[in-house]
Amino acid sequence: MKLLKFLMLAAVALMAVVSCASKKEAKEAPASKVLVLYYSQTSNTKTVAQEIAKRLNADIEEIALVEPYDTAFQATIDRCKADREKGILPEIKPLKSNVADYDWVFIGYPIWFGTYAPPIASLLEKVDLSEKWVVPFCTFGSGGLESSSKDMAEKQPNAKILPGYGVRAARLSAMPKEVEHFLKLYAPLMDKFKTTNTSSPFVPADFPEQHPISADEAAIFDAAVNGYPMLNAKATTVASRTVHDGEGTEYLFTAMDMPREKKADMPPASEIKVYVLVENGKAPEFTRVVR
Ligand SMILES: Cc1cc2nc3c(=O)[nH]c(=O)nc-3n(C[C@H](O)[C@H](O)[C@H](O)COP(=O)(O)O)c2cc1C
Repeated sequence: MKLLKFLMLAAVALMAVVSCASKKEAKEAPASKVLVLYYSQTSNTKTVAQEIAKRLNADIEEIALVEPYDTAFQATIDRCKADREKGILPEIKPLKSNVADYDWVFIGYPIWFGTYAPPIASLLEKVDLSEKWVVPFCTFGSGGLESSSKDMAEKQPNAKILPGYGVRAARLSAMPKEVEHFLKLYAPLMDKFKTTNTSSPFVPADFPEQHPISADEAAIFDAAVNGYPMLNAKATTVASRTVHDGEGTEYLFTAMDMPREKKADMPPASEIKVYVLVENGKAPEFTRVVR
């Protein structure tokens, strides 16, 4: 229900910004100022941040910790657990950028434990994003864009948080092209792009209604998720749409994710949504899971 509310708000915000941008263009308003802020432990998110900043000619700043996490995976998990038990967040170094100077703030992070990594929680405690256009972006093993965007909207209720971009770490090589398409969604909204086109052809059409899965669609789902150890899912219904300017088809599957092992501490069977991309002539890949 909360997710639905967030998506509705995002849609309203998007419509508002489209109408606002077209008025601005008519008046030849000065270019928007864009800041890309990101935290990255192992450089995946950094790569995305750099791509976005380069394409938007935006300012960019990495969020640094006073006491960085140990680079070992288990040590990071242990510190996160210990911090959570103590009720503390990691201390971040003061930002060099003054967020108040910007109209748009792109915020990038890895997904940790289903949402943005703790340094972003620290950032959201410190900055005021009220009235800013905020675009979340993230990298992850399987997903977390929707949940982290929703959590961000709860932390900064006066920010205008727009639909974001997320990419699996395993698909980072597809990122530059996806970012290019993603930013075209916002091109009409940013006078930086010097465009008068406010009805971007790059905004994908909405998914139609879900329908029961056919044998061919089941094969696409299985090909996309097979081999990924964190999923043991069976798709039930699906809808699809054309994306990437006609170069691919995106499927939104509804599936049941079953426990992988019969153990008491395994999560119970649950309904998930799985996005799968089939680019023309390529094998199906799942792009994210929404739990
Ligand atoms: C402590 C920790 C927790 C993680 N939790 C999740 C998770 O809940 N879901 C997920 O899809 N990926 C999870 N990951 C994987 C990271 O999101 C992924 O590797 C990401 O691309 C790392 O980004 P970075 O290179 O910018 O640090 C986790 C990684 C770490 C280190």
